[in-house]
Amino acid sequence: MRIRVKDLGYVYDHGTPMAAQALSGIDWEVRPGEFWVVSGPSGSGKTTLSLLLAGLLPPTSGSLQVDGVEISGRGSVAEGVRRRIGVVFQFPEHQLFAGSVMEDVVFGPRSHGLPARESEARAEEALRMVGLDPSAVGPRIPRELSGGQRRLAAVAGILALRPSLLILDEPTAGLDHPARVRLLEILAGLHREGITIVAVSHRIGDFLSLADGFLCLEKGRIFASGDSRQVVPALAVTPGWRDGLPDVVRLMLSLEERGFGVGDGVWAPEGNGVWTPEEAAERILTALGGRSSP
Ligand SMILES: Nc1ncnc2c1ncn2[C@@H]1O[C@H](COP(=O)(O)OP(=O)(O)OP(=O)(O)O)[C@@H](O)[C@H]1O
Ligand SMILES: [Mg+2]
Repeated sequence: MRIRVKDLGYVYDHGTPMAAQALSGIDWEVRPGEFWVVSGPSGSGKTTLSLLLAGLLPPTSGSLQVDGVEISGRGSVAEGVRRRIGVVFQFPEHQLFAGSVMEDVVFGPRSHGLPARESEARAEEALRMVGLDPSAVGPRIPRELSGGQRRLAAVAGILALRPSLLILDEPTAGLDHPARVRLLEILAGLHREGITIVAVSHRIGDFLSLADGFLCLEKGRIFASGDSRQVVPALAVTPGWRDGLPDVVRLMLSLEERGFGVGDGVWAPEGNGVWTPEEAAERILTALGGRSSP
């Protein structure tokens, strides 16, 4: 889906003494099928932006259109667009409520009015998409699954709605390394299928090789925005943001700053970023004299 955000602002408790400006002056565009990451420190407005995107909060100022429709609008057209947006809230596993995983995943399509048969087929498909075997995991009680499995089951519950735009708030928070990698692979797969994705994360480094765009927020305003080539140089010179870049990227930046001639920042001549240890080794060995890694 296409997202167009113009001069968007949001104030909590607008017009009261408690008023708190959470977002201001946000201009942003996401093309259909793109994968964007919204990043920024705590309190920068990430969750607020995702609630606005999902049509769950109305903008205080400016506009936010999804596929040309003001998303917080009334009426069946806006409602139709909102139904194509799936939201995975932070720690969604806390929202599993049914007696079995299958019942939980089936709930979404059923509540959208689909017949039981089709809802079950969709639920099975969604569980498979996140790598959970419907016949093994479907009958189980959600709270008896591991934390990582519960997170995946909750994501499946949203995928069963077959959203065209998927919004996820901190999808990898609190997961161990293998579970985090698994979830990132799932998002990469959904991206390949053409679903538009907006993932909120303060771990921007996890997404550098994965996402098309990065919207970096600070105190409710845009600090940097664009693809990795556009945002990494801005983040690299700002202490708080630089610390959030992966070790490999920080190493390459430090080597370059010290004059080791590893190239143009973290960018390989062919235009790709150096995001992995293997890519970094290759670049360092080349700088040392044309050798290549084993
Ligand atoms: N329900 C609310 N009422 C009043 N102020 C709020 C409310 N929710 C958030 N805020 C304020 O709005 C600002 C942005 O909050 P938001 O939750 O969007 O940040 P965030 O980037 O998601 O932070 P975190 O990384 O901690 O999740 C903060 O200053 C916060 O205190
Ligand atoms: Mg948040």
